[in-house]
Amino acid sequence: MDILIRSTPAEVATAAADIFVRYANAGATLGLATGSTPVALYQELTSRCERGEVSFARSRAFLLDEYVGLDRFHEQSYYSTIRRVFTSHVDFIDELVQSPEGDAANPDRAAAAYDQAIRHAGGIDIQLLGIGGNGHIGFNEPSSSLQSRTRLETLHPRTVQDNARFFENTDSVPRYALTQGLGTISEARHLLLLATGTEKSTAVRNMVEGPLSAHCPASVLQLHPRATVILDEDAASQLEDLEYYRFVDEHRPH
Ligand code: GLP
Repeated sequence: MDILIRSTPAEVATAAADIFVRYANAGATLGLATGSTPVALYQELTSRCERGEVSFARSRAFLLDEYVGLDRFHEQSYYSTIRRVFTSHVDFIDELVQSPEGDAANPDRAAAAYDQAIRHAGGIDIQLLGIGGNGHIGFNEPSSSLQSRTRLETLHPRTVQDNARFFENTDSVPRYALTQGLGTISEARHLLLLATGTEKSTAVRNMVEGPLSAHCPASVLQLHPRATVILDEDAASQLEDLEYYRFVDEHRPH
């Protein structure tokens, strides 16, 4: 795992953008994520696109996850969210931004079709990830198989609580989602996980320094040959080997 620690969330976004633009400019297949954490990165990428430093015209994208039971045009569906916060502001071809079909009549079939679509596209080159306060990635909650495929998942009560801020009240938060599985995510060639804020520090410590365990789904990154984790000081604050990670980052062999 490559661990980069930056002073502020804005610097996390800049470091992530430096990596992301190389993939976009090469016409790569991008895995996108929703949630608050990547918003600063999307704003940075939008500014760079306006300045002509990056283009998404040759890229396609797959979203990590989607609520089940929301119409895709509901403002909190991830289909709508990713367009509102990112892809409609840059030169992405809209039809090439795909997400799991959360409003499908048959979610199991939609989940299998999504894995198939990713495979047909040749796989994901770089998958952006956030992390839930309980260590989830996508909507893979604790107890998710580390080899799971895209599937219907039941949200943990903590996730429902965390995501209630996007809805009128807790009761309006969907209880189910379609999420790329941990096995699906692990097939992306490069994983890029961003975390900011002290409320993520326990999950970050468990992901980086805890045991490989379905109890902390993000710990599956420990198995990935190319995982980059970019943290602000607050998210990194519980890491035991912090000074070593800083040394590695500052003294990279040429
Ligand atoms: C949601 C999403 C995840 C995201 C997580 C953290 O549950 N399904 O993909 O990583 O929340 O979100 P935030 O960045 O808003 O803390």
